[in-house]
Amino acid sequence: MHSLVTIADLEKEKILSLLASAARFEAQPNRKTLDGRVVATLFFEPSTRTRLSFETAANRLGARVIGFSDAATSSSSKGESLKDTIMMVSNYADIIVMRHHLEGAARYASEVSPVPIINAGDGANQHPSQTMLDLYSIQKTQGTLDDLDICLVGDLKYGRTVHSLIMAMRHFHPHFHFVAPTELAMPAEHKLYCREHGIDYDEHTELSQQLIDNSDIIYMTRVQRERFTDLMEYERVKNVYVLRAEQLRHTRDNLRILHPLPRVGEIAYDVDDCPQAYYFQQAKNGLFVRQALICDCLDVES
Ligand code: CP
Repeated sequence: MHSLVTIADLEKEKILSLLASAARFEAQPNRKTLDGRVVATLFFEPSTRTRLSFETAANRLGARVIGFSDAATSSSSKGESLKDTIMMVSNYADIIVMRHHLEGAARYASEVSPVPIINAGDGANQHPSQTMLDLYSIQKTQGTLDDLDICLVGDLKYGRTVHSLIMAMRHFHPHFHFVAPTELAMPAEHKLYCREHGIDYDEHTELSQQLIDNSDIIYMTRVQRERFTDLMEYERVKNVYVLRAEQLRHTRDNLRILHPLPRVGEIAYDVDDCPQAYYFQQAKNGLFVRQALICDCLDVES
């Protein structure tokens, strides 16, 4: 049994094997391979998709689910440490899925926990299960993960999903276009990671028509109000990119629009009816990928 803390821990063969497992779960999602097991979901930060898809995954595998979706209802609000919370919950559950606002919280939890930890997002750091469903969605829509033009748009500074995606794509020769306002540009450490791993990238402040027309994937992200200490800065950048249907008239046939969701205006509702829109199916794919991840971390055949 093992934890999933960062996507950087997964080698190419492992990623491909998990994607194949997810495809088997998509074909047959109701399997009681975790009958008698308990999955805990500890969400110290809000979530809709990640928590509910992990819980649905556990239910469809026959496991029971315990946990909390609001830390204010747990004893952490009385000052209980993360270590003590993890030690307690590991008395009750076989695996812990945890989202926390602090970067590094999942790594710390995995070091003190006797049961596997799945990182469901730690601050602006990592969101590896999201990355696996992003990869699954890219593979499904493009027929390959190799040699793709991928436009990452929006909050590239705080966006943990884009940071994880870059790391995962190191195996597949992507060309990344980073599109962000200067205040939310891709941090230097992630650009260094690209250079060290031979990942091709360029940077833009404008989401130009040329970029839209020459991409295979456009990965939109939300400007995350909760990460800003200066709300004036948030107001300045929050609506900087809005993708609209009229911009999608001359794209590549295979272009798909992804977004980890929730969106707060960066994809206009008229895009939902365009054939390029894939973000709702992307979220649905999370269920199958999370079934594969839970089984893998518990060393259960899938
Ligand atoms: N994509 C994602 O993490 O969504 P939630 O915050 O709703 O879980």
